[in-house]
Order: sequence, then structure tokens, then C-alpha cells
Amino acid sequence: MNMEEIKIQQTDIRKAKPDQSNLPFGHYFTDHMFLLDYNLEQGWHEPRIVPYAPLVLDPAAMVFHYGQAVFEGMKAFIAKDEQILLFRPNKNMERFNQSNRRLEIPEIDGDFIIHAIQKLVNVDKEWIPSGKGTSLYIRPFIIATEACLGVRASHTYQLLVILSPVGAYYSEGLEPVKINVESSYTRAVRGGLGTAKAAGNYAASIKAQTEAKDAGYSQVLWLDAIEKKYIEEVGSMNIFFKINGKVITPELNGSILAGVTRDSIMELLNNWGVPVEERQISIEEVYEASLNGTLEEVFGTGTAAVISPVGELFWNNHQMIVNQGHIGQLSQKLYDTITGIQTGLIPDTLHWTVQV
Ligand code: COI
Repeated sequence: MNMEEIKIQQTDIRKAKPDQSNLPFGHYFTDHMFLLDYNLEQGWHEPRIVPYAPLVLDPAAMVFHYGQAVFEGMKAFIAKDEQILLFRPNKNMERFNQSNRRLEIPEIDGDFIIHAIQKLVNVDKEWIPSGKGTSLYIRPFIIATEACLGVRASHTYQLLVILSPVGAYYSEGLEPVKINVESSYTRAVRGGLGTAKAAGNYAASIKAQTEAKDAGYSQVLWLDAIEKKYIEEVGSMNIFFKINGKVITPELNGSILAGVTRDSIMELLNNWGVPVEERQISIEEVYEASLNGTLEEVFGTGTAAVISPVGELFWNNHQMIVNQGHIGQLSQKLYDTITGIQTGLIPDTLHWTVQV
């Protein structure tokens, strides 16, 4: 990739910053964004930071018709001495390229994109919130821009990075969420897009999510597409169960997203000597554990969700209340540790943070 210097065009108009005390997720955007173009002749080229503004795209741009779009989710935090920290950005870039390969999008130079993100975050650094549980959410994404209605890989793309000051992903915050176990709709199937962070996976999830919301649940827990038996993920997060002292999370089976927080949690648990198993786990096993009193904790993990305790699972007319609807001790310790490392309050012995 062409490592051209990133041009910066500063905005003349600064937007008002949102109230930090009650930040929703993903409603506010900063003053600037990063752009990078791709065509067959030049590859990825013309990196630039420009004022945040709507895009002009041809109505025939392939992203609108065939959904060739991938994204990532990262966060920047204000640590002590006004230091700005990113969390494991190289992991996101590895996954960005895995998604690119699956969707026939040209790969990017991850180090260069991290460099661009550092520049962009620096330009908009006064937007990074500092309240507890807040951060600057970073959304890199790539869209197919060629005007063509033939079904094939686009010949042109745009990579963008936008920034959003955020609070907790779920309005419940650290209050446990209620989750409906989805037995009709399917998120992904092996060989499909499930392991890629493709926009289409989220489109596939919306109907089930709306129905779950209408029934009083925050999210859906997806089961495998074939047997509707094995647990996959929540869509906005990976899922962990603590049963009889052991922590279990579904293995990466070809239809589950490899979460960066998921990986970090497993490393922390291993370091703490907490038994952790990555394996197939059926919803029946969880139900049995709930009946016999060994289902101790359930929590989701994700960049946006961080650690999100689950207080109730609803499956097949069975209601499973977890830890009497309260956050479990391990979930709380994981939340405190991961956010502590991210914000520099806990020494980063695993070298996960990167300074901006
Ligand atoms: C993230 O955790 O960063 C994600 O991309 C999930 C999304 C549903 C907000």
C-alpha cells in the first residue's frame, strides 16, 4: 500500500459536544473523519482527514445493492496524565483483513490504518469523554463504491473511520440484561459470513431483535443454524457461561465472530487460573445447569458491550434467572479489570494498550 502522508483539512465549524453524564451509544459524531480510496490502478490511495460530512455516492454504488461492506469497532480512552489509549488495535486490523478476504475486498495495511486512527483521534481528542464507562468509539468501515449492477466484486472502495463519544451500549449499563434465545431465525451458518464483521450479518439479525425487544428482551442469543441446539453468540457480543466453577464459551466454529474482548477475557481467566473451556455448548446444557443450580453467571463480551451481565435467558417457554438477576462476582471482576487496563488504572502487563 502507498504510505502517502495523511493530509488534514480542519473544519471551520466545531459542533457542540454532548452532555457526558448521560451519553447514549452511537448518536454523536466528532468533527472529522478519515477517508482512503481504492481503485485497481492505484490500490489504496489518498489518505485524508476531512470535516465530518455526508458522502456523495452513485445510486448504483455496489454497497447499496449487494452489501459488500465490512466494519470494525474499537475504542479510545483517556487515561491518567491526559494520555490517550487504544485497546489491542492490531487485533481489529487482523480481523478487518479477515473480513476483507471473505467479502473479496482488497486487504488494507493494518499498521497504516492504526496510524491514521491515531492521527484522527488526536485531531478530535477533545471529544474523548472521561466519565466512568465512557469512551470514544472508533468505527472503521469499508464500502464498495463502483457504480455497477453486475454481481461481482467492486473495482473501487472507500475506507472511512468515524468517531463517536459513547456511554454504555445497553441502556441497562452494568445492570444484567434479559435475552431471548432465538429458535426460529438464523444469524449465520458455517461457510457463510458469520466469522466476518460484515454489515449483512447485522441486517440478518434485526427482525429477531425487534421481536425480542417487543417481548421485553434486550437482545437475542443465536443458536446454530442446523440443529437449533448449540449456542453461538449474541450478535453484538460473544457469550460466556459460568457453570459449577468453570467458564465455558462456544468455540469458534466457523459461524461465530472472533471477538477481541472474548480473546482478552479468556487470557485473563487463564492467567487467574479460572478453568475456561472453548467448546460446543448446547442450550439444553445451560437449561439443565439452571435447573440444578449450577448456572452461576452468564455474561456477554464485546468492544461496545465490554462485559454485559445477563440476568435472564428465555428459551422454549423456559425462563432461566441467572444469579437472581444480579451481576456475578466474576463478571464484575472482569469488567473492572478490562476497563482498568483500558483506562490505565491497572498496569498493562499484557501490553494490550497502545498510546495515541
Ligand atoms: C462492537 O462491539 O464494536 C460492535 O461492532 C458491535 C456492534 C453491534 C456495536
